[in-house]
Amino acid sequence: MSLFIIRIPADDPADNTRIESILTSALRDFKHRIINSISEMDPSQIPGSRLLFAVPLGKYGTNSSYTRLLYKLRSEPGLLEGCTSAILIDGESELYTKSTGTELAFALNAAGSALIGRPLVEGTGSLYNFRVQAKLLGVNNRGAYLAAVRDMIERLVKSVFPKQEKPNILVLHASSHRTSNTMQLWEQLSGRLKDSCEINEIGLRNGTVSDCSGCPYTMCIHFGESGRCFYGGLMQEEVWPAVLKANAIMMLCPNYNDALSANLTAFINRLTGLFRQKRFYDKALFSIIVSGYSGGDIIGRQLISALNMNKSFYLPPRFALLETANNPGEALAIPGIEGRMDKFAENIRNTLIS
Ligand SMILES: Cc1cc2nc3c(=O)[nH]c(=O)nc-3n(C[C@H](O)[C@H](O)[C@H](O)COP(=O)(O)O)c2cc1C
Repeated sequence: MSLFIIRIPADDPADNTRIESILTSALRDFKHRIINSISEMDPSQIPGSRLLFAVPLGKYGTNSSYTRLLYKLRSEPGLLEGCTSAILIDGESELYTKSTGTELAFALNAAGSALIGRPLVEGTGSLYNFRVQAKLLGVNNRGAYLAAVRDMIERLVKSVFPKQEKPNILVLHASSHRTSNTMQLWEQLSGRLKDSCEINEIGLRNGTVSDCSGCPYTMCIHFGESGRCFYGGLMQEEVWPAVLKANAIMMLCPNYNDALSANLTAFINRLTGLFRQKRFYDKALFSIIVSGYSGGDIIGRQLISALNMNKSFYLPPRFALLETANNPGEALAIPGIEGRMDKFAENIRNTLIS
C-alpha cells in the first residue's frame, strides 16, 4: 500500500506557503511520494493506493490547477478505481474551504475512490475553525491544524473497511411507498439485495423525529452517555439502536428544494448525541437520490458533508444512485435504469460482503 500526496499548485506561489509547511511537518513519519498531478501516477499504481489531495485556495477560493483536476475526474469515471482518498484544503479567507472539499469529495467518489470517514481537514484563513481543538489539546490554532492533518493521514493509511458474511443495512426514508419515485427505485434495489443482506427499513415521516433542540454540549454528552437524547422518542428507542447494529445506512433522498427533506435532516441532526459517544468509521453510507429536474449532485454533497465529513461514515466508491424523474412511476421507466441498479447492487455487495 502506497501513500501519494497530490499537491495541487496554487495560481499565486505565495499561496502554497502555509499548506506546504503543514504537509512537511505532518508527513514526517509517513513513507510517501509527492506529485503535482494525478497524471503523474502510472494507472497500475492506483488500485490499493491511499491518496491525499492537498489544495491551496488563496484569498478568493479559486485554483485553476484544481479546476483541471475536476475536469479529469469527471471526464474519466473509472480513473480512481480501487483507491482510498482524503482531502486537505487551505484557504486565505473564511469561505470556500468546505464547499470546495465537498465538491472534490463528490468528484473523487464518482471517479471510483472510497473516502475514509472524516476525510477533510480545512484550514480557513484565520484558522479560527481550530479554536475548540486547540483549547482541548493545549496548543495554538496552527498546532491543532497540524495535529488534525497528522491524525487524518494516520487514519488514511490505516483504514480498512470491515466486511461481513451477511451485512445489516439500515434504510431510512420519509416518503410515501405509493407515489414516491425514490421509494420505487429502492423497492427494485431491495429485491436485488435481500438474499445476501439483512435489511431494516425505518420510515421517518411527518414529525416522527423532532429536529435537534441544540442542547448545550455538556447536556448532549450527559444524555448520550446513557443512550438518550433530550427529545427521546423514535430516534432514541428505534433509530439509534438500529444505527449501532447496521454495517451500512441507505438514505432514500428525494430532492426537495435542492436539499435533503426536513425529516431526513432531522435524523442527521439528532444523530449528534450518538456521535458524541461513538464514531461510525466502520459503517458505510449509501444513497438513492432522485430529483424532478436537476441538482442531484447538491444532495450528494450534502450527504457527504453531513454524514461522511461530519459524522464519520465511510464513503464507498460511487456511494449514490443519482436519477432524474418527476411524475409518480417515471423513475422505473428511465432508459438504462435496470443496468444501473444491477451495478449499484453489485457495488453494495462488493463493499459489504466478505
Ligand atoms: C417539496 C418538494 C420540493 C421539490 N423540489 C425540487 C427541486 O428543488 N428540484 C428538483 O429537481 N425537484 C424537486 N422536487 C421534485 C422531486 O424531487 C421529484 O418528485 C422526485 O421524483 C423525487 O421525489 P419522490 O421520491 O417523492 O417522487 C420537489 C418535490 C417536492 C415535493
